Amino acid sequence: MKIFREKDYDAMSRRAAQVIAAEIAHNPACVLGLATGSTPEGAYKYLVDWYEKGFLSFTDVRSVNLDEYVGLSPDHDQSYRYFMRSNLFDHVDIAPENTRVPDGLAADTTAFCAEYDAYIRSLGYVDLQLLGIGRNGHIGFNEPGDCFVKETHVVDLAESTIDANSRFFATRDDVPKQAISMGIGAIMGAKKVLLCASGEEKADAIYNSVRGPITPKCPGSILQLHPNVVLVADEAALSKLIAAGVVK
Ligand code: PGA
Repeated sequence: MKIFREKDYDAMSRRAAQVIAAEIAHNPACVLGLATGSTPEGAYKYLVDWYEKGFLSFTDVRSVNLDEYVGLSPDHDQSYRYFMRSNLFDHVDIAPENTRVPDGLAADTTAFCAEYDAYIRSLGYVDLQLLGIGRNGHIGFNEPGDCFVKETHVVDLAESTIDANSRFFATRDDVPKQAISMGIGAIMGAKKVLLCASGEEKADAIYNSVRGPITPKCPGSILQLHPNVVLVADEAALSKLIAAGVVK
């Protein structure tokens, strides 16, 4: 695992954007696995800025997103499709038909999840998968549990995830209780993984993912088995790895 130690959120965002831009420069028709949440927002701002300056183009890029809340329409301002449009897709030259976000309104979620996995396979899997991490170690919405789930699936969100995400909703009761999430199979099938984290509250999840036992109780720990992971994190998120001498 290659680890970039960055000073703060902005430096983490810039470095993450550089890794993504380098992937696009290297392979203009790459498949990007994209993430939502507070962590990647800054990186998306850099990518939009560099696109506007003419440094990169998304014309041939295809994207698949990690997850979506069950029950939210693409126009709901807390849906992840809405997040992707407002943070990236509407501001760059990616073709809308080349972007996929799980359908939170799918009537038959079992069929939808199977189709999502089939689509990812048809693309030859993801070239670069961007990941944030939950305080509980979740990646995508693969929550801690008794086993790793390989396929795209419907997840019951952990109470701690509902608590963490309630900041985006009027009340905690408004937070959806389920999501559709890409499974561990598609994430581990990515040729390269870019894991990003910022802030002290992620320090345990990052330590456990990098140095802890490989266990579904911390889904991020499975990344220790991936041959090509880049971790970009600020010093607060790395603080436990720094204290343990793992990161200089
Ligand atoms: P955050 O979420 O980027 O909003 O902290 C990350 C995650 O829960 O995966």
